[in-house]
Amino acid sequence: MEKYNNSENVVDVKGLYVSFRTFKGYLKVLNGVNMQVRRGEKVSIVGESGCGKTTTVNSIAQILARQAKVDNGEIFFNGKNIFKMSSKEKKNLRSQGISVIFQDPIASLNPVFTIGTQMKEVIHYSGIEGASSKQVQHERVINALKETSLPDPERIMENYPFQLSGGMRQRICIAMSLSTPRNLVIADEPTTNLDVTIQDQVLKTLKKRVEEKGSALILITHSLGVAREVADRIYVMYAGSIVETTTSDELFREALHPYTQGLMSCIPKLSGGGIATGIPGRIPNYLNPPKGCRFAPRCPKALAVCHESTPPIFEPIKDHQVSCFLYG
Ligand SMILES: Nc1ncnc2c1ncn2[C@@H]1O[C@H](COP(=O)(O)OP(=O)(O)OP(=O)(O)O)[C@@H](O)[C@H]1O
Ligand code: SF4
Ligand SMILES: [Mg+2]
Repeated sequence: MEKYNNSENVVDVKGLYVSFRTFKGYLKVLNGVNMQVRRGEKVSIVGESGCGKTTTVNSIAQILARQAKVDNGEIFFNGKNIFKMSSKEKKNLRSQGISVIFQDPIASLNPVFTIGTQMKEVIHYSGIEGASSKQVQHERVINALKETSLPDPERIMENYPFQLSGGMRQRICIAMSLSTPRNLVIADEPTTNLDVTIQDQVLKTLKKRVEEKGSALILITHSLGVAREVADRIYVMYAGSIVETTTSDELFREALHPYTQGLMSCIPKLSGGGIATGIPGRIPNYLNPPKGCRFAPRCPKALAVCHESTPPIFEPIKDHQVSCFLYG
């Protein structure tokens, strides 16, 4: 295994605010996101639909929609501020530094080229040794397809995206990301279309590869169980902010934020100890989000101050941070 210094931050997001322009006005979505990913580290972002997980990782990969506006904050990739990168550096960021496995595999595959052609192109532009050799490209594609347990890789290379099932297309996207070494792999709900056994296999492969190469992983998932399985550290997101972060084991030992506690109670109890209760209410309207803590309208423990001011980050337990007035 390659030696690496795992205290290095591959990604450092500092106070990131992002809004989206719509015909009704600006949706103030990201509300000061802070997150770090070290070399060799696997982190997971969890949170309800619409809380800003994809917006966060798209900001890191520099693939935000045209309507998006970065209002404040900085993102460092390997120590470099990505908002100050030249266009060449930005291009290298996508072709060599970061690979993204998208939530929707159809959107990330080109319908008019075969899988083989598309995967070879990724290798061609990766800058690795022998990247322009047809033989190297072929071998890497075959190996990557095998790693995601796709049957008959030679045949799949000849197929067009429409000839494959949703689950197969999703595994192609994962194979693409595994076909060249990257500093950072971003996987946005990479297994939503897969059945449980394949999901498990694919996540194990992803995890193993990241560990072997000393690259970093950001995995987005709705499932706290999946996050615990794969990630060293979990970032819990609510309405555009990271509300709690710590190691996976510590989070399951003691969730501090009322929102995380609510998410935990949504995990079905297989032991038969009760039914999932869920969190009443919904994510706020980003056109006019609540003043103070954005979770206050749904929080069973809200104090008067919660409706007035934004809670700062507290660290009541070493390496366990929470943004909530209860810990002030
Ligand atoms: N291009 C866009 N234009 C306008 N609003 C957008 C755009 N992209 C995202 N949003 C809004 O930003 C908010 C956060 O969206 P985002 O996709 O980041 O959430 P998410 O946490 O990834 O959700 P999911 O789990 O459903 O994928 C949502 O309210 C969404 O409607
Ligand atoms: S800051 Fe207040 S409203 Fe927000 S989660 Fe904590 S107790 Fe609840
Ligand atoms: Mg998303």
